[in-house]
Amino acid sequence: MLSGKTILVGITGGIAAYKICELIRMYKRANANVLIVCTPNALNFVTKLTLQNLSQNEVAVEEFDVKDFKPEHISYADCADIMVIAPATANTISKIAAGMCDNLLTSIACAFTKPVIVAPAMNCNMWENPVVQDNLHKLHYEILEPESGYLACGYEGKGRLCSLEKIFDKTVELLNYKPLNGKKIVITSGGTIEDIDPVRYISNYSSGKMGLALADTAKNLGADVALITTKDVSRKYNVIKVKSALDMKSAVEKEFEDADCVIMAAAVADYRVKEIASQKIKKTCDDEISLTLVKNPDILKEISSRKTRQIVVGFCAESENLIENAKEKIRKKGCDYLIANDISRKDIGFSSDYNEVTILDKNGNMKKLEKVDKMTIAHKIFEEIYG
Ligand code: PMT
Repeated sequence: MLSGKTILVGITGGIAAYKICELIRMYKRANANVLIVCTPNALNFVTKLTLQNLSQNEVAVEEFDVKDFKPEHISYADCADIMVIAPATANTISKIAAGMCDNLLTSIACAFTKPVIVAPAMNCNMWENPVVQDNLHKLHYEILEPESGYLACGYEGKGRLCSLEKIFDKTVELLNYKPLNGKKIVITSGGTIEDIDPVRYISNYSSGKMGLALADTAKNLGADVALITTKDVSRKYNVIKVKSALDMKSAVEKEFEDADCVIMAAAVADYRVKEIASQKIKKTCDDEISLTLVKNPDILKEISSRKTRQIVVGFCAESENLIENAKEKIRKKGCDYLIANDISRKDIGFSSDYNEVTILDKNGNMKKLEKVDKMTIAHKIFEEIYG
């Protein structure tokens, strides 16, 4: 994905420095050349040896460690396509904002003329300090704000390093790498809602996170995205809100003809109530009541049978015999790929930020992905489809 690009990762002295090891791996997996510069304090949290091994390059720390006729800060600033400072501490942010060059990292930042991403991470009180905020606003860089949550210092609040996928996606975006440029990708998301009466419905636990991660990733990779979802989503791409399986079917059919790829991550109800009561169903003295359900159309199966140039991808939610059932499902539905996930596990699948999936293709190939967050899963799915 990033071959031919050189990314300069600047690591400063915060506990989130350990997370950057994984970011380096993500860049390397995408074939980027990764250079690393650390402040001396960063090495209190990660070792030079680890960073060297992961980046397969020497790690620069000392300003006067000159190897050729060019001072280090100038040669690093010249040869990288982008600089990513993560985690960025309050100290380094403030120094860069003041134009200070008291270590190699701040000197490179001062001399750097290409895009710079800054991903701050710090204690929540430091983050809220007006001086830090002022300094941050002085930087004309791409700032990826920290997230809220439990912080390593024991506090709860805003200050946690944003997700590595966000940093990765922003890097890709700023390097203008758009492998899905010109492609229309349609994604379905969320659980369908099948009304019983004006106050009751049948649905499922799908949160829409998997579909949203796919849509955001496709957008970041340059696609023209149509997200058909049962959830309220605010995005700059085309979001089509639907409710029932029948609504979803109409929306998919409308978007299908000029689509290049359709990914059905939605949990579509297999059955709907035969007759939706127009008034609230009243409690009676009977101990039991019955609802008659009728089969919903199988959207995935129908579009798979009509596809011409479109790539059609389904998801497969199983609570037992995952691979066996997935193999059977890809054959029956006739789609090109099927992403199988185990929805009996609480730590993945429904509502979780994580998933662990096996990608099956129509030729019988299978690839199991380890448990990772849904943005990473989304990336891997597009990598599998488009290489
Ligand atoms: O939304 P999250 O909380 O992030 O959770 C993600 C997820 C678990 C919902 C997602 O990863 C997932 O597995 N989605 C598919 C759920 C599902 O309906 O699985 P299924 O095995 O019942 O259906 C197989 C495929 O057929 C799916 O692509 C489904 O969209 C499609 N289908 C199903 C029924 C139907 N009537 N029409 C369909 O098109």
